[in-house]
Formats: sequence, C-alpha cells, structure tokens
Amino acid sequence: MIKSLNVAMIGGGFMGKAHAMAYAAMPMFFWPAPAIPHRKVVVDVTDVLAEEARQRFGFAEASSDWMATISRDDIDVVDICTPNNVHAEIAIAAAKAGKHIICEKPLARTLEEARAMTKAVKEAGVTNMVAFNYRRTPAVALAKRFIDEGRIGKILNFRGTYLQDWSADPDGPLSWRFQKKIAGSGAIGDIGTHVVDMAHYLVGNISEVNAITKTYIKERPIQTGGVDKLGASDKKTDAPLGAVDVDDEVLSLIRFETGAVGTLEATRNAYGRNNFLTLEIHGEEGSIYFNYERRDELQVMFADDPSDARGFRTIYTGPAHPYGDGLWPIPGLGIGYSETKIVECRDFFAAIVNGETPTPDFAEALQTELVADALIKSGQTGNWITV
Ligand SMILES: NC(=O)c1ccc[n+]([C@@H]2O[C@H](COP(=O)([O-])OP(=O)(O)OC[C@H]3O[C@@H](n4cnc5c(N)ncnc54)[C@H](O)[C@@H]3O)[C@@H](O)[C@H]2O)c1
Repeated sequence: MIKSLNVAMIGGGFMGKAHAMAYAAMPMFFWPAPAIPHRKVVVDVTDVLAEEARQRFGFAEASSDWMATISRDDIDVVDICTPNNVHAEIAIAAAKAGKHIICEKPLARTLEEARAMTKAVKEAGVTNMVAFNYRRTPAVALAKRFIDEGRIGKILNFRGTYLQDWSADPDGPLSWRFQKKIAGSGAIGDIGTHVVDMAHYLVGNISEVNAITKTYIKERPIQTGGVDKLGASDKKTDAPLGAVDVDDEVLSLIRFETGAVGTLEATRNAYGRNNFLTLEIHGEEGSIYFNYERRDELQVMFADDPSDARGFRTIYTGPAHPYGDGLWPIPGLGIGYSETKIVECRDFFAAIVNGETPTPDFAEALQTELVADALIKSGQTGNWITV
C-alpha cells in the first residue's frame, strides 16, 4: 500500500492550478508513485476564493487562514504558491511546525528573507525544495546528461535568455509582479532566476555579473485584488496609474566559477517572444541548444561528427531520455508545462519518502538569490559585482 501525504497548498492562482494538476496526475504518470499526494486543504485570501479553489482544484477543504492550516497535525506538506511577499513568513512557520515544504520560485524577495528561510528549514530538518521546474524538462535534463558525460567537453560559454511579451503593453495592469514590496524585483526575480537556475544546473555557480537593468514602463493602471492577469488588459484607461518600481529588463555578462563566461537576458516586454527560454552552451568538443518554445527538442553538435555532416542535429525527447520511464511512451508526442510540474512533484515526494535532498533545495536556491541580488546591485552601480 503506497503511503498518502496530506498537502496544504497556499495560493490558488496560476501556480495553484499547475501544482494541483501535478498532485492529481503524478501517480498516473509515475507508478508506483513514491507517495500519493492527497489534496487536503487549499488556502487563499478570502473564504470565497478558497472555496472556489477547493472545488476547482479538487481539495477536500478550504481555508482563508494559512497559519492555522499549516499548524494542523494532519498536514504533512506545505506548498507555497503565493506571490513572493509571503514566501518567507509561510516557509519559516511551516518549518517550525515540522512540515515538508515546496516553495515557488523565486525563493524570496530579498537575500535576507532567503537566508532566514534556509536557516529555518535546516534547523527543522524538513525536506525542502524550490519549484524551478524548467530544469525538469526532459530535453534540459538530457543536456545535463550529455554535459556530465563530457560529450561537449569543457564548457566555454553559456548564453541564456528568457524573453516574453505579456507586459510590453503599457495598459497591462500594475499587478503584484510590478511592485517591489510584493515581488522584490521584476524580470530578474520572475524569469531571470529561471535562467540562473539553469546556468547553475548545467554549468556551475555564477561568480560575477555585470548587468544593465531598465524600467521602460514607469506607470501602469492599478489592479485591485485578484490573481495576476499577466498583461491581460481591458483597455480601460480610467483606472488610476501606479508606479512600477522594479526592472522590466536585465542584460548581463556573467562569469562562472569554472572559468566559463556567458550572457544572460530577461524581459517580459519583447514583442513576439512568448516563452522564449533559450540556452546555448558551447564546449571544447561540441554545443547544445534548447528553446522552451520547442521543448521536446534538444539540438546538439558534437565536434567529432564527420566533417561532411557537421551542424546541429535535433533529438526529439521520449522514453529513452530523462523521465521517459513515466512520461509518454513515444518520442515526439509532446510534453507541456504540466509535465515539468509532474516530474517536480514526483522528485519532491520521492525525496520526502527516501529522506533525500531534492534539487534545488532552499540552500541551492539561495545561490540563485545571491546572483539575483548581484544583478540588481550591478544594474544600479554599473559595476562588476562578485556573487
Ligand atoms: N515555476 C514557475 O514557472 C512559475 C510560474 C509562475 C509563477 N511562479 C511563482 O509562483 C508564485 C505565485 O505566482 P502565480 O502566478 O500563481 O500568482 P497568481 O497571482 O496567479 O496567484 C497567487 C494566488 O495567491 C493568493 N494569495 C496571495 N496572498 C495570499 C496569502 N497571504 N495567503 C493565501 N493566498 C494568497 C492570491 O489570492 C492568488 O490566488 C510566485 O512566487 C511566482 O513567482 C512560478
């Protein structure tokens, strides 16, 4: 009989949807599942929102009181899917209550919060993970496998971009993502941290950055309440304008501890780019290219390919590749965003059950927060900043 673990999920927005789907689907994909996630309680800011989330996401109970919920004896796992401003408060309280914790990225708004969270989970000895799901795309994990096997040799150069366009329209509302007091930073924390997480996963720790940051749209119509509409605008111009006090865009030169160099870019204002999360990695013996908009594909070029067949070739991921034991049985059937969350869920529950450290845990994600902080400081001063 496979053990069930009771989950309290805090926040029923975009990520609430993704995590709830993963709880339902994980045992369907990965069987035998390490544990069965039981959707016990969902929490949102009001009783009405919580009850709506309960019905929609298949939880047994609803609550508008996260503090009372996470202290319950019958809760095993606390899942933080709220905006960034309450990650620290909830995670620290959940750790003190002895719960296993999965927290959405970025870990926190500030380095100070991230450090306090990391200390709290370490002291409590609970399993903890940060939901950087993109590294669990099979093609990205395949890139990692090739790199670890030495197939592209010593890495010389990493180019990472995360370009979206949902905030390019100045009529897009001033949601929590544009407010420093809630988000901590803009493109840096929201999507730049995904690139940093990938860079750390594939190449190694970033040691120095030299960044330009820009805020192009300085005011937006104020959005009152509700989930982030991610740029959806009803074009009403009578909403009062509020100040954007975070970055719209970051571009940086980066150096790695290994001696590799690279670039990193993130913006949500790049018209025509949807979820353009790309990685190009050059090594002494080959190259790798990945673009999330074509997430089933990994492009590789190995320097020992015959000279008349040189060039990138495309591998379509499937059962022969990472997570192929649980995902679809034929290459090219295609995965979506959900599958990365399903794999994340499997790995998190396996870590709890087996007493292992999942990746990235809070301590590993703290390294990403150090880079995010360095990018902000470098953008302000124009200087190289050591991480
Ligand atoms: N891993 C990824 O790819 C990814 C993608 C999107 C968002 N995120 C992260 O997930 C988190 C949530 O983002 P989202 O897009 O789901 O936001 P969202 O605006 O869609 O939803 C947030 C939900 O949390 C609720 N909430 C806010 N404060 C709360 C509180 N104190 N107690 C309980 N509920 C509260 C809101 O009412 C809302 O339902 C953020 O940290 C974000 O950075 C990660």
